[in-house]
Amino acid sequence: MTAWLDRRSTPLLVGLFAALLAVAAGLVSGADAAERAGLAARWTARAALPLFLIVFLASTLMRRWPAGITRALRKRRRQWGLGFALAHTIHLAALAVNVIVFAPGRTWQSLIGGGLTYVMIFVMAFTSTDGWQRQLGRWWRRLHTVGIYYIWFIFTASYAGRAFGDEPEKRVVGLLFGTILIAALIGRLWPR
Ligand code: HEM
Repeated sequence: MTAWLDRRSTPLLVGLFAALLAVAAGLVSGADAAERAGLAARWTARAALPLFLIVFLASTLMRRWPAGITRALRKRRRQWGLGFALAHTIHLAALAVNVIVFAPGRTWQSLIGGGLTYVMIFVMAFTSTDGWQRQLGRWWRRLHTVGIYYIWFIFTASYAGRAFGDEPEKRVVGLLFGTILIAALIGRLWPR
């Protein structure tokens, strides 16, 4: 297990596989084209969440439980970030179909929070190299710290919206994943 986690390619393959599986599950489960596209968008976001949590918590986990697995996750954190970016790009493709084909009435205000998050995700993925880290100096750390908390905020806000919504099934999902995200934040910020 540790050797597998230690491979550079593992995070990208996990991100790709999880997101494509989510799309496939959406395509076979929906009753009509609109529902299939909606499920693909919903489940690709859900598939990307565990990858985000690995990036968000890799240092915390290694500090608290130093072991082969946590060390491998911390060592490959950059690749897990790229795996998350890949999975979330597949969410972008699924939701583009959703927004353009099935729900064209969305206002630009409703797209701005998620749209800005994509700009942040792509800037972070693009600057995830030693060269950019050297070039940006202390701004690299600032960019990646602000970015990771911003992505956390958008995930949490999306699930909080569902937790307080009208549909019982979405309320359960919102409560479950919202609680996991808040627990992750507490775990990360808890004093050493
Ligand atoms: C302009 C950009 C975005 C648009 C238009 C958008 C649109 C959508 C759509 C149509 C769904 C499916 C809704 C449903 O059937 O319940 C969805 C689900 C979701 N999206 Fe996005 N999205 C965007 C960006 C993002 C970003 C950047 C994040 C997180 C960082 C995110 C997190 C989520 C979450 C958590 C869900 C719910 C998944 C679940 O039910 O488990 N979205 N989004």
